[in-house]
This record gives sequence, C-alpha cells and structure tokens, in this order.
Amino acid sequence: MITMSDLLAQIDQTAREAEDELAAVKDAAGLEQYRIKFLGSNGRVKNLTKLIGEAPKELKRSIGQRTNEVRSRIEEQFETRKQELASDVSSDRDYVDVTEPGLRPQIGNRHLLMKVVDELTELFGRMGFSIATGPEVEDEFHNFVALNIPESHPARDPLDNFYLETSSDQGQLLLRTQTSTVQIRVMERQKPPIRVVIPGRVYRPDTTDATHLPMFHQLEALVVDRNVTMVDLKSTIMQFAHAYFGPQTKVRFRPSFFPFTEPSAEVDIWFEDKNRWIEMGGCGMVHPNVFKNCRIDPEEYSGWAFGLGIERIAMRKYGIQDIRSFVENDIRFLKQF
Ligand code: DAH
Repeated sequence: MITMSDLLAQIDQTAREAEDELAAVKDAAGLEQYRIKFLGSNGRVKNLTKLIGEAPKELKRSIGQRTNEVRSRIEEQFETRKQELASDVSSDRDYVDVTEPGLRPQIGNRHLLMKVVDELTELFGRMGFSIATGPEVEDEFHNFVALNIPESHPARDPLDNFYLETSSDQGQLLLRTQTSTVQIRVMERQKPPIRVVIPGRVYRPDTTDATHLPMFHQLEALVVDRNVTMVDLKSTIMQFAHAYFGPQTKVRFRPSFFPFTEPSAEVDIWFEDKNRWIEMGGCGMVHPNVFKNCRIDPEEYSGWAFGLGIERIAMRKYGIQDIRSFVENDIRFLKQF
C-alpha cells in the first residue's frame, strides 16, 4: 500500500535532483540534455503525473497539486537558466546569436598586375596574337648578341644588369633586362608567320622610387610575315590603346633608337590626371641582323615589335600613383581591385 508520505517523498526527490542537475548545466547542449531528462515527453516530471493515477483516490487531489507545483517550479528554473546561458558572453559560451552581424569569409583575389596581364593577353588574343614565354635567367646571346647589342654597348655594363655567378662551362648568365629576349626564342623555334605577345618579369638594378622598381613587367609583341610595315605597328598600338584605355586616348610616337629595330620609336600616352605624356615603351621594325641571327631571311620577311611597361599600363588604367604599391603587399590596396 503506497502511503501519502512515500508519494510526497518521491516528488520532492525529483524536485531536488532537478534543481541540482540544473545548477550543473554549463552550456546549451547540457541544457538540452537536462530538458529531455526532466521535461521531455518521457521525462521525470511526466512520470510524476503518472503517480497521480497510481495514488489512492483520496490522495489524488493533494498529490496532483504537489506535482503541479513541482513541475511549474522546474519549468521556471529551466527558463531562468536558459536566459542566463544566453546572456553569458564569456569566451567559452556555446550558443549562436542569430542577430549578430555575420563574419565575411576572407577570399583572396588575383593580384592587380596579373589581372592586367590577363586583360592584355585577352585583348591581344582577340587581335589574333598568341602568348609566348621564355626564361627569366638568360644567356648573353639571347639578352644581347642576337638582339644586335654589341659587346661594347653600354647596355651590357655590369652596373645595369644582374649578372649571376656561374661556373666557367655555363657561360655568363643574367636576369633578363627585357622581354625582347623571347623574340629570339620564338624565332628560333618557329618560322613566320609569327604573331605573339610575351608578358613577363624583367630585372634592372634601378633605384626604387615612385616610377622605378628593380623588377617589373613588360608586354612584348612580335609580328613577322611578308609585307609587314610600320603602318601595321602603329595601327596595332593605336587600336590597343583605344580599346584598353578608351577611344579618346592620345598616343604619340617619338623617333628613337634601339639596336634591334630600325626604324625605332618610343610610345607615349597622355595621362589626363598628370597632364603630361608618359613613356610606355619602345617599338620598331625588326632589324635585319636580328632576323639573320634567327635564320630568317630579311629579304623575304619583315616584322615589327614593341615592348611596353605593364606597371605603367596598369597605373594609367587604374589611376595608381606609385609603382611601389604593386609590391608592398598592402592588403588595403590589393583588396580594391
Ligand atoms: N626592350 C626595350 C626596353 O626594354 C623595349 C623595346 C623597344 C622592345 C623596341 C621592342 C622594341 O620590342 O621593338 O627598353
């Protein structure tokens, strides 16, 4: 026979355990375990209400009252604990505040210069040019000799080149000073017609300032075919400038000298923001000696070439004032493009 005090003792026991366990709950997961154990559809509180059914008739009323009291107390304490945990902003909190502003994932992007290289090769691709590349460590033949730059030429001065220390059987090597080296490499392996652009890094021992870096990029072009003239050269450069910088862009050709072209010119582009002409690079008709060095007959073929500074192109296109921005790796600069 179950007595009143047995039943009350069971109810109080459950209430005490609920209170103790709730105090020990530390996080959202613990709270959920607690809820299932005590307040779930098969939980301890639910089981208490079964006691009412088992109790003798005359006790049902008071057992029921006590059970209800305990249940609402446990529910109340549960809610209070839930609030406490939610407002706990200590570092080991374990809950998700859906109203908090989100954290954007930091996604990297391509360096501006590489984007410009992509834009340029894409643009020249549409004009029928394919891409060629060559080594950055070069020999004197490709950097000078084949380009008609004689032994005595000041361009070969050790102060103007990064010569490498090499063993005697390697010959003299250096970091290439111009992408024109790749003109030679292309003509050595391919017979005309040739129509290539060559993007790449070049190296010169210049003092770094707002317009100079000891390493920069050039976009070289080479066209070799029968009956190629300077008109093709000029119109290609004009077309490029108008397509890339806008149809109003002013381009100027100035007579100049390069050992590997004859005649030669320098290409200037007008910078609106600086209100002056800025030199973008050189160009010209391929010198007959260069063709001969590559076993191409200058009587049969003619060609033109240019080499432009990619940093200068990027600076004009994106309004960048200081060439050093490209290599400083300042994330605030890089993120803008
Ligand atoms: N290589 C020259 C330089 O770095 C630029 C240049 C001039 C390239 C004339 C050419 C050219 O292809 O035809 O200053």
